Amino acid sequence: MTVDPSPDLRPAAGEDLSAIVQLERVSFDDPWSAASLAGELGSGGRIVRVAEASGEVVGWSSTSVVGDTADLLRVAVAPTARRHGLGRVLVEDVLRGAASAGAERVLLEVAATNTAARALYAATGFDQIHRRRRYYADGTDALVLERVLA
Ligand SMILES: CC(C)(COP(=O)(O)OP(=O)(O)OC[C@H]1O[C@@H](n2cnc3c(N)ncnc32)[C@H](O)[C@@H]1OP(=O)(O)O)[C@@H](O)C(=O)NCCC(=O)NCCS
Repeated sequence: MTVDPSPDLRPAAGEDLSAIVQLERVSFDDPWSAASLAGELGSGGRIVRVAEASGEVVGWSSTSVVGDTADLLRVAVAPTARRHGLGRVLVEDVLRGAASAGAERVLLEVAATNTAARALYAATGFDQIHRRRRYYADGTDALVLERVLA
């Protein structure tokens, strides 16, 4: 796949569901089901965004905002589109969307072993605030990261 250097970012719509289901399957050991993804798309409490390059959905993010705190719940980039800066573009888009929705900070959880995601979050200004030992079923620790919004 040739990756468009300036992908379009837009709110996800119902017709993006199957592409997001596919992204989940190839990106996570515990992919969200089609039913829960449909719930995400239909939920007024979520900011759900997709990145489109050459007419194809190549990334997505889901964020919830409650009061002054946003939670980045999911971000994924299609395997063939990784390492081209798209993850960073998606996270920066999340930060803008969270700030516009009134958040003063963004929190997320990442597996301590997820090198790619940890590099992405370090590059976008997140700091570790907690470690949850053996949080995941396989015994991996979860790191809780925070990005304070200006
Ligand atoms: C994490 C993920 C979204 C990164 O997407 P991406 O488009 O490859 O990320 P980018 O190209 O924007 O890279 C952002 C930074 O992370 C670094 N990075 C990305 N992948 C990396 C890897 N595998 N190893 C080391 N560093 C990596 C890049 O070098 C870049 O750093 P820089 O800006 O200092 O050069 C992607 O790997 C993915 O979808 N993984 C599976 C889903 C997942 O784990 N999501 C996060 C759950 S918490």
